[in-house]
Amino acid sequence: MRKRAVQSKGPAARSGTLTEKLCDAIKGQIASGIYLPGSALPSSRALAEELGVSRSTVTVAFEQLAAEGYVDISQGSRPRVPQSLHRHIPLGNKTRVKIPLKLSAFATRLQTLVPPDRLPRLKADFRAGDISGIDFPEPSWHKAVLHALRIQPKALKYDDPLGSLELRKSLRAYMWRSRGVRCDEHQIVVVNGSQQGIDLCARIFLNASDPVVVEDPGYILARHAFEAIGARVVPIPVDRDGMQTSLLKGVTANLAYVTPSHQYPLGGILPVARRHELLQWATRVGAFIVEDDYDGEFRYDIKPTETLHSLDTDDRVIYLGTVSKTLSPELRLGYLVVPPELISAFALAKRMTDRHSALLQQRAMHAFIENAGFERHIRRARRINARRRTLLLSEVQEVLGDLAEIAGEAAGLHIVLWLNQVSRELEESFVKNAGEHGLGLYGITPFYSDQTRRRTEPRAGFVVGYAALDDVEIRRGIQILRQLQPKPPQ
Ligand SMILES: Cc1ncc(COP(=O)(O)O)c(C=O)c1O
Repeated sequence: MRKRAVQSKGPAARSGTLTEKLCDAIKGQIASGIYLPGSALPSSRALAEELGVSRSTVTVAFEQLAAEGYVDISQGSRPRVPQSLHRHIPLGNKTRVKIPLKLSAFATRLQTLVPPDRLPRLKADFRAGDISGIDFPEPSWHKAVLHALRIQPKALKYDDPLGSLELRKSLRAYMWRSRGVRCDEHQIVVVNGSQQGIDLCARIFLNASDPVVVEDPGYILARHAFEAIGARVVPIPVDRDGMQTSLLKGVTANLAYVTPSHQYPLGGILPVARRHELLQWATRVGAFIVEDDYDGEFRYDIKPTETLHSLDTDDRVIYLGTVSKTLSPELRLGYLVVPPELISAFALAKRMTDRHSALLQQRAMHAFIENAGFERHIRRARRINARRRTLLLSEVQEVLGDLAEIAGEAAGLHIVLWLNQVSRELEESFVKNAGEHGLGLYGITPFYSDQTRRRTEPRAGFVVGYAALDDVEIRRGIQILRQLQPKPPQ
């Protein structure tokens, strides 16, 4: 605490004895929630030392506060704010002047881009993006974290903004083994999840009003990252195979964002001819392409999909990976592979954003990859999710039958479910109704940035994530969907 306890303005600044001023300052701190009900205040010795007053001044103030009911004191322990004391005690008749908020254009744009709230207490939640906590490899991650903690350097200092060299070396080898991505460790930037990677690309390549190519429908948080800096989003329609790259003809942009291994959300895998068309377009117009390989480790009945990065001979592709699906989204750990000419721009931007990602976590991830725990876990998670996927597909088939059509199920951790009897106009109210029946359901419409779908798809569609669900929840979710189907006319 808090020299400002006695320096603060307001009640604490009124004239009076030192004890009175101290009492007022502590009351002010309790009222403003600095000390919550049940929490301990500093000891009289510590407070006296910090404020440079005598201990008896502090003791008398505490006794005064106790007499007024603001603190409980007992011999030998620190004074505590009583549990019963309401946090917001009115502070006299101080009036708050409303000052108009002056926010930046960035902050103002963000207010129009807020994601929907989570629904509480669901019987099943088909939200894509969540994964099961039960699958988390707690013992081997624990070991990796302990190992990282034991590496106690002599001095604690800032590291390279690109990330710890050891982790970048192990990521380099991991990406080569698992995704066929070949790069030098100096091309890797460790970031706080894909979102930071996308945000860095937005800031490095785009000014306000600059065009940026995105898939339509596409990943909302990428689109928002571009819109937040004022860029002009150019949506390119997606079909069952991914972005329709023939529609890039005549389009110019500095940047394009794509999910070629498993298009988000429709689930298509971009055919090789389209990949070449996309790369040729980028070379022609001088654009860079962000390849978001967010769930490339999960594929089922198909061969591993080659990355766009491995086809790129002109250094146009920035590869983006994350551990959000393979390990946990809570870790906020991702990695970019950038062309050599861009390394310094990324290093400067990452340094300006947050110096570098947390080193303890990077060391743990390095140990986790090196002791083979990561790939062992991915193999196991792939098996578990393959089972979940099989159950989901068979439940849809058995319970919904002709009422539904599945798309995008060959890879990743979500599918798209089209409901044949529900029109797209009813999608939003269907989602709401599902929520009221305890089912978290997410319509496809918000993933579209324009009216493309109006022309192509008359049915209601839903993005159905299954990686966080157990068998009971999957069955229950599909049963609820069955109950919500419109009744055929009598
Ligand atoms: C298309 C896409 N990219 C990336 C991610 C992961 O983002 P992050 O690494 O920021 O957790 C997701 C998560 O659902 C996603 O859907």
